[in-house]
Amino acid sequence: MNPISIRTLQSLKDKQQRFSVLTAYDATFAQLAADAGIETLLVGDSLGMVLQGRDSTLPVTLEDMVYHTAAVARGNAKAKRPALIMTDLPFMTYGDIETGITSARAVMQAGAHMVKVEGDDWLVPLVENLSRQGVPVCAHLGLTPQSVNKFGGYRVQGRDDDKADAMVNHAKALVDAGADMILLECVPSPLAKRITDAVSVPVIGIGAGSDTDAQVLVCYDMLGLNTGHTPKFVKNYMTDGRTVPDALKAYGDEVRSGAFPAAEHGFDA
Ligand code: KIV
Repeated sequence: MNPISIRTLQSLKDKQQRFSVLTAYDATFAQLAADAGIETLLVGDSLGMVLQGRDSTLPVTLEDMVYHTAAVARGNAKAKRPALIMTDLPFMTYGDIETGITSARAVMQAGAHMVKVEGDDWLVPLVENLSRQGVPVCAHLGLTPQSVNKFGGYRVQGRDDDKADAMVNHAKALVDAGADMILLECVPSPLAKRITDAVSVPVIGIGAGSDTDAQVLVCYDMLGLNTGHTPKFVKNYMTDGRTVPDALKAYGDEVRSGAFPAAEHGFDA
């Protein structure tokens, strides 16, 4: 079977078929997740919190992302149908075009197929540049954890009408600039639907309701490996005596069928 590519994911959006995304940080998990049919593996800078025990994603370095991307790429390559690998550019490694290009080159050469950057329309010049150079980009909007200090905590974003309208416009501008995907974190479900309907590219949601084209969870959360506060949007799939491969398959199946997320996992306007 052909590996999953951005064309595969775009054609799923075009056919209104949902797909699943899960974070992965190591080779074994990447192979298991891809073999369970998870379409996209996100080497997320959440690894700073779940692997390194940090209290935010800010301390994660480009070297960390390169190391974990290479591990995920090696495991994914052994899967029956390799998934698309998306890697986060970490905090302050893409503030200007030159730095962003250097960072994107490092993770793409380590095995990523796409980079993810957090921000709004200030990213337009970088997205245009990366896109011209053949680097697929996912733009992460809403609650962008690298800006936790600016937000004053991990809060739902886009609740005011003005902020909601701005988010729709930012998503459109980023897609016009060449973004191949949008990720929305912790935004009211009706706003996520508005953005999903307004852009032609796939929209991935986390805490963004059930109307986005795809869903993502942090793998530790969906495996019930949660030591602190469990966010509202998390569902533990290690129930009913499931093995890890069964839980991965159940997550992918529920995302594709629309059974996950339920209304209780989302936020109102
Ligand atoms: O770093 C990460 O895992 C993420 C997801 C929470 C979307 O960006």
